Amino acid sequence: MGWPGGWKRKLSVFAVCSLLLTPVTGAEPRTPAELASLVVQDCGSCHGMTLKGGLGPPLRPDNLEQLPAEAIAAIIREGVPDTAMPPWKPLLAPEEIDWISRQLKAGALVSPQ
Ligand code: HEC
Repeated sequence: MGWPGGWKRKLSVFAVCSLLLTPVTGAEPRTPAELASLVVQDCGSCHGMTLKGGLGPPLRPDNLEQLPAEAIAAIIREGVPDTAMPPWKPLLAPEEIDWISRQLKAGALVSPQ
């Protein structure tokens, strides 16, 4: 007798889901240094290595004055539809995105010139 399908199959579905989720939730959160270099390299490829703009607009504190940190976080999470700005939520945890937003507001990731 027993259950149709059985618990073993449920267990293996669970195992596969946990595996797939690992890169998103991340076993180890990225350190601030890792996040800072991700911003310079990955965001910098469009926004400029010094965040002064390129394909994407500049991301210096002066440029972001109108945007509260939460709005910046929402843009990073979801991207801007129909533009080159991609959604980052598959790659970055919400707390990492919040951290990046606050650093951008503070101008803490790039030198001041
Ligand atoms: C493939 C190119 C590309 C990459 C990579 C990219 N962006 Fe963007 N980003 C853009 C473009 C283009 C826009 C302008 C969208 C528009 O027209 O509103 C934009 C807009 C933004 C805005 C809104 C700026 C404003 O003044 O409205 C923020 C904030 C932002 N990006 C942050 C980031 C961050 C942080 C990263 C890295 C995690 C990143 N972007 C990576 C292309 C990119």
